[in-house]
Amino acid sequence: MKRIEFLKTLGLSTIGLAASESLLSGCMDMSEMNAVAPDIMQGAFTTLLPIPETAASGTPLSAHSMSGSVMPGKNGSLLGYRSSILGPTIRAERGSVVTIPFTNGLTEETNIHWHGLLVPPAMDGHPEQVVMAGQSFNYSFKIEQSAGMAWYHPHPHTKTGRQVFMGLAGMFIIESPEERALKLPAGEYEIPLVIQDKRVDANGTLQYNPTMGEVMIGYMGDTITVNGAHAPYHNVASRTYRLRVLNGSNARIYNLALSSGDPFTVIGSDGGLLPSPETVSNLLLAPGERADLLLDFGKMNQNSEVFLQSNPFSGADSQGSQSFKIMKFVVNNAESDSFVLPAALNNIPALSAATAAKTRTFDIGISMEGSGKHKMGKMKNMAGMHTINGKTFSMDRIDESVPLNNVEIWEFNNTKGDEPHPMHMHGTFFQILSRAGGRSKIMAHEKGWKDTVLVMPGESVRVITKFERAGKFVFHCHNLEHEDDGMMLNFQVS
Ligand code: C2O
Ligand code: CU
Ligand code: CU
Repeated sequence: MKRIEFLKTLGLSTIGLAASESLLSGCMDMSEMNAVAPDIMQGAFTTLLPIPETAASGTPLSAHSMSGSVMPGKNGSLLGYRSSILGPTIRAERGSVVTIPFTNGLTEETNIHWHGLLVPPAMDGHPEQVVMAGQSFNYSFKIEQSAGMAWYHPHPHTKTGRQVFMGLAGMFIIESPEERALKLPAGEYEIPLVIQDKRVDANGTLQYNPTMGEVMIGYMGDTITVNGAHAPYHNVASRTYRLRVLNGSNARIYNLALSSGDPFTVIGSDGGLLPSPETVSNLLLAPGERADLLLDFGKMNQNSEVFLQSNPFSGADSQGSQSFKIMKFVVNNAESDSFVLPAALNNIPALSAATAAKTRTFDIGISMEGSGKHKMGKMKNMAGMHTINGKTFSMDRIDESVPLNNVEIWEFNNTKGDEPHPMHMHGTFFQILSRAGGRSKIMAHEKGWKDTVLVMPGESVRVITKFERAGKFVFHCHNLEHEDDGMMLNFQVS
């Protein structure tokens, strides 16, 4: 919603914009409403890219505060699951049982949501299943899905944004014999990249303190990090690499591209490999989304450098106008590989719209529903303004009841809004049927199984899924400030 429309919704348009603004400023600071993404601090790219440790089932995780910093040479404070910011990359085989003993070493509640893993509802980290400070919980589930890249992070309602921002997140990679048979680059040639934007004070401590306006647009940082380090570089050989990229940011969207302008290959996204490789020169990746990429450094000269960067994009105001470097690759090792990219990667039977038993429509965006008195109350703390069908999250209310095994179309309608919303469903993967308005097409990385889809302002996106897991799950906007603000509903499959 544009600010003028927002004022209209408040019923203030009749008295004129200037008068409305002065009336509004009586109950809030208008400058706080107009938050913009902070200017990016461009680093030196002299820090080695940290590669998170790899962990298997049985590895204990504990959320706790520790000293460290995303800035080289600083020692502030942040959160992590092991001995540094973020958590290990957990790897597990399809069909195996994964058990993760978890301890909450924070001073507030937390839990773990396994984003992109199909796990029983009791293991999914629903916001009602929190682990209290000092308590433990054993997460255990069987991996019953194709190879792919999931991730994990806290999900306690109203606290998710802060906890993820302070450092709690990790990657989870599922392997399978089918995927190994494709002989994709592996080992040191397969690099997990968790991209996040942070704000850091002079001591190196992470700063999370969104203003009202930053709840509106989401909390964005000025310091871009990869695997918990600002402006890193990585030495590579002249061959093909597999980059497993997660946008683990609270609110920032990246338009990923190479500084050389060279194209790169997308082989997978949230739920595993695409049916076939897609060649792109840029890729818009929203919070929560993953992109499985192949980069060929084989044509580059020894000692040449190339940056992974974010290019400007339209539809997201201030953040969309920014361009910046994310990390640097230095080609300093001559090697040749015999890797041949298979033409077919994955067999994904298309769910056809004709098989859908039901279509549900969700209006996503800002709502000023409620009585006049309430409106001003909401305005004061800016809580509960991001809604789905006019509603904010209520822990016990079931918003959508879905018959088990139903095939349904869910339509996320952002045609009236002016903010991007990456919509995420728990407990299922979906296929994208159509995007109307805005970019009006299905993007390269959206041609496989997805759990998060970016719905830009002006867009309406239809997804289709079969609900094969019984239980109570949430779906929500993965802009974490929007989610914490209540842009999340429950659905019950039974
Ligand atoms: Cu990654 Cu419910 O979220
Ligand atoms: Cu999730
Ligand atoms: Cu949102």
